[in-house]
Amino acid sequence: MDALAALSLQIAWGADEALDEQPIDRTRPAPVAPVPARLAQAAAVAAAPVPRQNVVARANAVAEAACTLDELRAALAGFTDCPLAATATNLVFADGNPAAGLVLVGEAPGAEEDLSGRPFVGASGQFLDRMLASIGLDRSKYLITNLIPWRPPGNRAPTDAEVLMCLPFLQRHLTLLRPRIVVTLGALSTHALTGTDIGIRKLRGKWRDLPGHDPSPRLLPMLHPAYLLRTPGAKRDAWADLLTLKRALDLG
Ligand code: URA
Repeated sequence: MDALAALSLQIAWGADEALDEQPIDRTRPAPVAPVPARLAQAAAVAAAPVPRQNVVARANAVAEAACTLDELRAALAGFTDCPLAATATNLVFADGNPAAGLVLVGEAPGAEEDLSGRPFVGASGQFLDRMLASIGLDRSKYLITNLIPWRPPGNRAPTDAEVLMCLPFLQRHLTLLRPRIVVTLGALSTHALTGTDIGIRKLRGKWRDLPGHDPSPRLLPMLHPAYLLRTPGAKRDAWADLLTLKRALDLG
């Protein structure tokens, strides 16, 4: 029973992924085997972290080289520099209609998205579907994607380094899609795309420009559906933002 209780506590804390094939007993001191100096040196070089700027520069180069959406998806699938790629089950690229002119950008996949390879299919995705249906939108009328295309283990927040190395792929995605309107869902994608760090409660519902794209889409930050599920009082603001979006879509 103690072991069961310890396991449920770990799950409640978000440690719900086995990252290795074999369990590791971290309570035992590791055996110290003598390692030849040459091998130790080579291992240290291989294990040294690649400087962050190099990874971001590489992400930029790989993303820029993709000329179609299929090439971009393949480029991401082969981009193993991001540590999240190693722990995720599937790459979660996008869902919906690439030609719709409306793109929604979330944060990162959760457990259900990781298993299915499709964004926003879990509880917050189903809630978002209902919100969008209320203004006449289904997935044939927009494309939905995420800033981070791999699930962070245990749904932890992505690190700044992970955001920086995934952002070039999102920017390239938007360049290839050429949308008229981009809706960012939540603070993470809003901050990453606009470069501001003002709180999402202040940014939501107000149109902004998205620099660096030609033609330049209009960007509308909205509250994340997972936040709305936790904070029912914020649904009123979300409804106002949906109406703002609908007015822009109706104007064409
Ligand atoms: N939350 C997100 O931001 N994206 C998903 O795909 C699912 C949940």
